[in-house]
Amino acid sequence: MRKIVITGATGHLGNKLYQYLSQNDQLDVWGLDIRPSDDPKIIVGDITQYDEAWADVFADCDGVVHLAADRDNQCNWDSAIPNNIDATFNVFQAASKHGVKRFVFASSNWVVGGYRFIDARLTPDILPNPVNPYGVTKLVGERMGNFFSEQYGMSVVSARIGWTQWTHDNQPGAHMEMGRWGQLMWLSDRDYLHGMERSLFADVEGHIVVNLMSNNKGMKWCLESSASQIDYHPQDSATAELPLTIRIKECFAWLGQRFIPSIGKWINNPSF
Ligand SMILES: NC(=O)c1ccc[n+]([C@@H]2O[C@H](COP(=O)([O-])OP(=O)(O)OC[C@H]3O[C@@H](n4cnc5c(N)ncnc54)[C@H](O)[C@@H]3O)[C@@H](O)[C@H]2O)c1
Repeated sequence: MRKIVITGATGHLGNKLYQYLSQNDQLDVWGLDIRPSDDPKIIVGDITQYDEAWADVFADCDGVVHLAADRDNQCNWDSAIPNNIDATFNVFQAASKHGVKRFVFASSNWVVGGYRFIDARLTPDILPNPVNPYGVTKLVGERMGNFFSEQYGMSVVSARIGWTQWTHDNQPGAHMEMGRWGQLMWLSDRDYLHGMERSLFADVEGHIVVNLMSNNKGMKWCLESSASQIDYHPQDSATAELPLTIRIKECFAWLGQRFIPSIGKWINNPSF
């Protein structure tokens, strides 16, 4: 039986994964979250502070999925540094101390958010281009993955997760924010769970970065290396539905990005 620990297990993505993996009788699944849960296998702990009281949950653990974070892409440094950088380091440290073999880090599309209005094929090895503290902290987390795999022999998968909405039953459509960019990084629940499972159990050495989106038509995201490296094969697909208002906004964004630096800076605001 393999022991798996999910941080952020009471959260949106964490709970979906916790429930899903718990159905597998070959796995002993545990959670860790700052929010209390009725489930005795979800330990309460604040991972911004290293504490053996929570770190001990990693004893005899085979795989970690680290999801706990401030997930708000508009979060400020005051929250991003403790919750996304310090906390990630603490979880890596606890996992390495207990000899964990596989670490899955919930990275984000925001590591490359600066390519939203630029034609680019978004392979995992494209030059990172974060535009907000959130994206920077996710990039730092990926770099920690490199460090812990090099120094401690852990295999690490940093998954640049697309967008699994906590509203609209995670169905794609024009309601999604951020226009074309937002819609074309849709990740269905089914593909998310498959991607996490593959990230945990695929044969991987060292540290790799993979994109996790559904197979959306016309997207810039490259899923070829996700297929070859972790055997990720999404089954769902969305097509962008773009009303005229979004098309006009995109047009201004494109012009601003290229010709008017001050507008380029303004549109890089995550809410645009
Ligand atoms: N939802 C998405 O589409 C999406 C996209 C890209 C990346 N991600 C990443 O996936 C992860 C999960 O996202 P989510 O949407 O489920 O967010 P969420 O806010 O629903 O879940 C995060 C969980 O982490 C816990 N947590 C936060 N700070 C903590 C701390 N200091 N100690 C212990 N627990 C703490 C929270 O209590 C919460 O349960 C995050 O790292 C997020 O950045 C999510």
